Parts: sequence; structure tokens; C-alpha cells
Amino acid sequence: MTVHHILKMGDPRLLRVAQPVAASAFGSLELRRWVADLFDTMHAANGAGLAAPQIGLDLQLVVFGSDQPNPRYPDRPRVPVTVLCNPVITPLGAEEDEDWEGCLSVPGLRGRVPRWSRIRYTGFDPEGGPIDRSVEGFHARVVQHECDHLIGKLYPMRVRDFTHFGYTEVLFPALAATADDD
Ligand code: NI
Repeated sequence: MTVHHILKMGDPRLLRVAQPVAASAFGSLELRRWVADLFDTMHAANGAGLAAPQIGLDLQLVVFGSDQPNPRYPDRPRVPVTVLCNPVITPLGAEEDEDWEGCLSVPGLRGRVPRWSRIRYTGFDPEGGPIDRSVEGFHARVVQHECDHLIGKLYPMRVRDFTHFGYTEVLFPALAATADDD
């Protein structure tokens, strides 16, 4: 078990386009260890998801989801625990939603971010098995946020209206009093 340091915005490693997971790496001990490290780091930080570049790992690999309801967001829809390699996202329709996001690499801040309402995402699990899901709402938002990390995009780069961007402790005092950032 290794909890890694999470890189913060400004680190150039967060701006890279990540390398694909090689076919030969699927099922390897090394890839399994990285996946375990990503989950350990995400759980230690109370995050909803984490992307490999956030721990300095230059791979198209993200983890997200939870078996447990998040105590801070009990009404939030549950997203299944997922490891996703080499993802491809396709919007299903032109509809967008805007909602608040935070990021472990941008601690202390929240912003309203437009995302596709419904998406299909495909990719591979760490054993090389295919993943193909069509999702909407919060699940779709989490996937788009995490996969953005693989193309060097942090959510503030997606904010369109900067009147809806600010410090968590100011915007959501009750949340900030109890919470880590995610
Ligand atoms: Ni993030």
C-alpha cells in the first residue's frame, strides 16, 4: 500500500497527454500495483476519482467510484468502482449540464463546469477486458473529469463563467469545515 503525493496545478506533469497502457502491460504485476496505489491515494484523500498523471504516472489510467455512499454527499448517485485504461469518450447527444466540481490537484477551490449530460465510454480494465458503458449525470461527469487529466486538462480550463469559481470555504462553508478536497 502506497499513498502517493498528489501533484498540484502548476506542475507541468499535469499538462501532458498521457501515454497509452501497452497491450503487454495488461495483467502485469506492475499495472496492478499502480492501480492499488491509485485507490490507496484516492481513498486517503477522500476523492471521488483519481487519474494516473495526478501521482506523476504518465499513463492513460484512471480510477473512480465507490462501494459506500459518500458521507459528504449522501444524495449523490453511486458510481461503480472502476479502473479504466485507454479510455475513449463519445458524447450521446448535444445536451450539457453544468455543476460544481473540485479536484485533488486544485485544493480548496470549486467551480461550475459544463459537461456532456450523456456519454458512452470505452476502454479496458487492468486485465485487458473491454469496458463499454453508456452513462449520464454524475457518473458521466466523473468520467469526463478524470479522463480530462489524461489530456492535460484541469477543470478550471473548462469553466466558462468565472463568477462561479471560488474558494470552497467561502462558497460552501459547511462542506469546507468537514472535508478534504475532491
Ligand atoms: Ni481532478
